[in-house]
Parts: sequence; C-alpha cells; structure tokens
Amino acid sequence: MNTRDSDHMISELEKKEGYILTDKPSEADLILINTCSVREKPERKLFSEIGQFAKLKKPGAKIGVCGCTASHMGEDIIKKAPSVDFVLGARNVSKITEVIHRPKAVEVSIDYDDSTYVYDIARNTGIKALLNISIGCDKKCAYCIVPHTRGKEISIPLDLLLREAKKLVDNGVKEIMLLGQNVNNYGVRFSDKHPKINFSGLLSELGKIEGLKRIRFTSPHPLHMDDEFLEEFARNPKVCKSIHIPLQSGSSKILKAMRRGYTKEWYLDRINRLKSLVPEVGISTDIIVGFPTESNEDFEDTMDVLEKVRFDTLYSFIYSPRPHTESASWSDDLMVDAKVAQDRLARLQARHREILSEDAKKEIGKIHNVLIENTKEAFDGMRGFSEGRSDNGRLIKIFDSMHSIGEILRVEVTKCDGGSLFGRVC
Ligand code: 5AD
Ligand code: SF4
Repeated sequence: MNTRDSDHMISELEKKEGYILTDKPSEADLILINTCSVREKPERKLFSEIGQFAKLKKPGAKIGVCGCTASHMGEDIIKKAPSVDFVLGARNVSKITEVIHRPKAVEVSIDYDDSTYVYDIARNTGIKALLNISIGCDKKCAYCIVPHTRGKEISIPLDLLLREAKKLVDNGVKEIMLLGQNVNNYGVRFSDKHPKINFSGLLSELGKIEGLKRIRFTSPHPLHMDDEFLEEFARNPKVCKSIHIPLQSGSSKILKAMRRGYTKEWYLDRINRLKSLVPEVGISTDIIVGFPTESNEDFEDTMDVLEKVRFDTLYSFIYSPRPHTESASWSDDLMVDAKVAQDRLARLQARHREILSEDAKKEIGKIHNVLIENTKEAFDGMRGFSEGRSDNGRLIKIFDSMHSIGEILRVEVTKCDGGSLFGRVC
C-alpha cells in the first residue's frame, strides 16, 4: 500500500512540479519519508531518520513525513522534529503538490474522500503495477492501528478501475496487483451511487482486458472467503494461483480476542475448499505471536494450522501494542512475557523453514509458467541468470540462458537448495 502511495506522490511531483528522482539525499530539493505504523519498531526509527536527513540535506531542501505515522501523529511530528516542513497522511497523498508549497502544512484528515485515486503514470511502469481497489478498513481488529490511520472503507468505482487497468496495459504492464485492506469485501461501500458489484465480479471484468496476462491481489480477509469468491479464483485463468490469507492466530480463543470474526475451524475449512478447487495453490500468511492472553495451548493451535496448511510464505511478528487500538488499553497482567513470545516466534519460523525445504523437494520435476521479472548478465566468473515467479507465486531462478523481462516461459524445476528453486526452460 505504501509503495503504491509513494508511486502516486512521485508521479504527481514529476508531472506537475517537474521533480526527478535522485538516490542521493544530499542533492535532493525534497525528501519524503513514507512511514508505516503497523508495528512500533519502524515508527521508533522515524525520528532518528529525520535527524539524519536534516544533517545531510542541502540548505533550503524540504523534508516531508507521509503515510500512516503522519496520519496518527499529525502536527506532533513537527513539534518533535522542527526540521520537518510538512506532514501528509496516508489518505491524503493526492495533496502532495499542494503541501509542498504550504510551510508547516499538516494534512491528515481521514474523512477526506480521496476522489483523486487516479494518477498519471510518469515513471517507467515496468511489467508489474499496483492498483488500489479500495481504501481504508471498517474492521476493528483489537491490535490494529490501520482503521485509525486510513479511515473507513471505500471501494473505487469499477469504470475507473477498468480505465486505469487498460492504461497500465497500454503502457506495457502484464501483471496487476490489486490492493486493499480487505480486497474481497470490494463493493460494500462506494463514495457515490454505483451499480452493485462484488470482488468476484471485479475479477471477472478485469479478466476481460486484452493484453493483461496476470492478476494478483492482496489481501483478502478469511471471513469474506465465500464459495463464490473461491470459485472465481479457481476459474479465472488470469488470476494467479497464489493467495495471501492472513491467519493471525490458530487459536479460536485468541481470534475471538483479536475480533477477527472467524475461528480456526472456519479458516481450515476455507483452506480445504480452496485446495480442493486449486491443488497447486500457493498460500502465504501473516501470524502474530504473543497476543495478550496467548497460552502455550493457543500457540500449539497456531503450530497446528502451520502444519496443516504448509504456507509457502510466512510473515510473522511479535505482538506490538499500538496507540488507538483496543488491546493497547488491556492490563499488564494479560500481556505475554517478551522472552516467551520470542521463543514462540523462533519455533514458528524454524518449523516453517523446515516445511519450505521439505516442500521444495516435492517441486522437482514440476512445470510452471514463469513471468521473467529480473535478469542478470554473467559477470566476473558468476553465471548470468533470469528469475521470475510462477503462477502460484514461487520464485524460480533459471541459469541456462538469458531471457527478457516480461516473457512468460514454461519452466521445469530441476533443483532446490533449502527453500530456493532452480529450473530450466522446457
Ligand atoms: N503487532 C504485531 N503485528 C501486527 N500486525 C498488525 N498490527 C500488529 C501489531 N499491533 C501484523 C498483522 C498484519 C500485518 C500487516 O501486520 O499480522 O496482517
Ligand atoms: Fe487491520 Fe484487521 Fe483491518 Fe486488516 S482487517 S487492516 S488487521 S483492522
């Protein structure tokens, strides 16, 4: 989401204000720090980063703090760090060309209906692009700051999305990643009157765009994974067969405390249905360990789901209390000991690594359609390679010859090393 917001701001600045990107902060006229506030650690780094840029920057250059931390700290950022020239919230990115001209501007409203979702494609877009289909989130997960920083959920109208997607394809894009906090809740609320449509309908409409080869999306919510959605996922040939399904915890008791709206049984039922429709599906997930009141038994439930689903990718975190969230106000005696949480995280990650190498071996001999995303020429005795992702999300390296970025090739997996896969064109 932040990458997409950064793209939006860069495009506006390039098109309307004549800026160009530099990777040298000491040469920049404008330094933007796009922040995340989901966990505490990156937020803590913000002020030391501002200090470093303030020292590095040339006289007269501006510093802007953007994104979710900007949304929830607002003008406190300028109070704490006077070298900051403006603060621009996550829901206000389209105002970037205004705030750079207003000294000490603070634009953080989350009621602001960001009707300028659309931005010009100024940069070389490449073969993959991000497209927001909704903004904000109406859920109230007890640990999560996002509804506070990104506001209520609004879906972006279908006609606008189709126009944007076509524009991207005309610019050479082959794969579009649809973005939203709960993508499969698409169509629940528009900012204006709009014909009824849901996420399955959107996938089917996007699938009709000629020249668009692949559609991915992140993230669907397990609660909204009804049969209609799973069947469209399975049936639509352009929809890649990899999917991120955030679990958060395998314990129904903890899921209830988290206010996730589903149980362990529901989650596993949806996974079983999905795997029966798409046996080759690649599944990734997010897991939080050490959520308040999580017992050993609760954690074993999480390990059990890991064992049953065998996720291809795991993003795992220790619970971090965040301001403006329900669980931040819970009493200290409900908190899980930091050492216990660390041990649980280490055990979860270690078992996941084992699962990856066990499953990588089973990949040998399988054939995938791979979209080449990256190539490296041979250099200094090192062999050149091409690398890309299979339809079901697996990264595969090909050493046998050089290919072009954007090509879709049939690749047989010939070798694995730990969780990494290698293959040859067949
Ligand atoms: N503590 C730890 N992890 C969190 N996440 C969201 N909020 C918190 C928090 N307070 C994780 C969730 C979410 C991912 C983006 O970040 O797993 O899916
Ligand atoms: Fe946060 Fe829950 Fe909304 Fe995801 S669904 S953004 S975890 S509140």
